[in-house]
Amino acid sequence: MRTGYQMTPGAFYDIFMWPLERVWFSKWRRELLSGLRGQVLEIGPGTGANLRYYPEGIDCVTVIDPNRKMIAELQRRANGSGWGGKGGRCLRSRVGFGEMLPFPDSSFDNVVMTLILCSVDGPNKVVSEAARVLKAGGKLVLIEHQLPISRMQALLFKLAAPIWAIPSGCRLDRRTESTIKAEPTLRLEKKWRKGPLLGWPFLVSVLRKV
Ligand SMILES: C[S@@+](CC[C@H](N)C(=O)[O-])C[C@H]1O[C@@H](n2cnc3c(N)ncnc32)[C@H](O)[C@@H]1O
Repeated sequence: MRTGYQMTPGAFYDIFMWPLERVWFSKWRRELLSGLRGQVLEIGPGTGANLRYYPEGIDCVTVIDPNRKMIAELQRRANGSGWGGKGGRCLRSRVGFGEMLPFPDSSFDNVVMTLILCSVDGPNKVVSEAARVLKAGGKLVLIEHQLPISRMQALLFKLAAPIWAIPSGCRLDRRTESTIKAEPTLRLEKKWRKGPLLGWPFLVSVLRKV
């Protein structure tokens, strides 16, 4: 399986993301992650942008990403900010793919995915794996971007998608809302479409395992 960000150093990724974090992502991350409890699985954590938003009450955060460099960078940053080690907050990291999660059914209270369904090979499989490892009543929270709803902007995104995917591995033309709605064991509880200047391409949602 391919990982789009295999060649992208974490520092480059963070510089690219910085303005987006300032304008949008940081407040959405805070809003979605602040209420989480228990055992949390994060799929595709990258360099760990979400770590600072996890509340103290969480038992443990397990992260899984196929990119060893991202995991190494995440681990380095986490060690310097109160995660891991003796007396630190519980953090477990694995190298692996969201399409084949190496965890038993119903093993997590919450699953977190932010900005990953655009770059995985099998978005439907990742969503069904996330649902499988969630306990009944558990939450899947996500921030993703997808094809805008405005026809003109959707056309632009479709045209740009193959070129944008070459350096980034990220597809601008995914229909992520349809993907998550297609998973029969998840119920969409809350959904916001964000980013008015770009035709609402961001999807921020909470889904509940039934
Ligand atoms: C755009 S980055 C997002 C990082 C972070 N979640 C954030 O919110 O900034 C996408 C991440 O998904 C990871 N990824 C790519 N393919 C994956 C897969 N099949 N399963 C899990 N993670 C994957 C990449 O290695 C990268 O760390």
